[in-house]
Amino acid sequence: MSKDMRYITFALGKGRLAKKTLELLEEIGITCEEMKDKDTRKLIFVNEELKLKFFLAKGPDVPTYVEYGAADIGVVGKDTLMEEGRRAYEVLDLGFGKCRMCVCGPESARELLQHHEMIRVASKYPKIAKDYFYNKKHQTVDIIKLNGSVELGPIVGLSDVIVDIVETGSTLKENGLVVLEEICPLSARMIVNQVSMKMEADRIKKLIHDLRAHL
Ligand code: PRP
Repeated sequence: MSKDMRYITFALGKGRLAKKTLELLEEIGITCEEMKDKDTRKLIFVNEELKLKFFLAKGPDVPTYVEYGAADIGVVGKDTLMEEGRRAYEVLDLGFGKCRMCVCGPESARELLQHHEMIRVASKYPKIAKDYFYNKKHQTVDIIKLNGSVELGPIVGLSDVIVDIVETGSTLKENGLVVLEEICPLSARMIVNQVSMKMEADRIKKLIHDLRAHL
């Protein structure tokens, strides 16, 4: 690697996705030893040899870092990409973090989805919920933004239904709720800053190629 080569920076969504991403990168020979130290409070990690930097961010902030070029590459869930609506190239479906965005609620709420009734929808994803109900179902609804434990909505009477991620379905099951409609499948995606894609085309295309060949 030439010494004036610039760093390529990765923004990874904190948590399970970051762990899976680092495992995947390791499988194609990209490691970051610094990041394996569990007790560290450092926010940014460097692989000097490969001229790579990595940082962990809150999922919804990942597309923001990538749009502004503070990170060249990001790994984040499709749900977050849809909700944040940032400008970036979505280049790869990484195949992990598979789940579904669904309309859920008690079985009794099923009929409320049939006749364009004005209902209340709680969600961590107000934009996805709005897009689905307004543009796809042509149903005017009242959307209530929550920040987590969205399943509470119909249970405590805040909303009729929720729009949320379903992975195993056990959260729904344990709370007496069911999937009423499926909005779309989700998984982890790699995104690339639009300028970086041109300026660092060779290195980024090789990375995408190596990942694709491995997946
Ligand atoms: C997510 C999602 C569901 C649950 C789905 O919540 O919002 O609540 O996981 O998974 P399951 O189908 O396997 O039960 P998360 O754990 O991220 O926490 P949150 O409720 O605070 O958003």
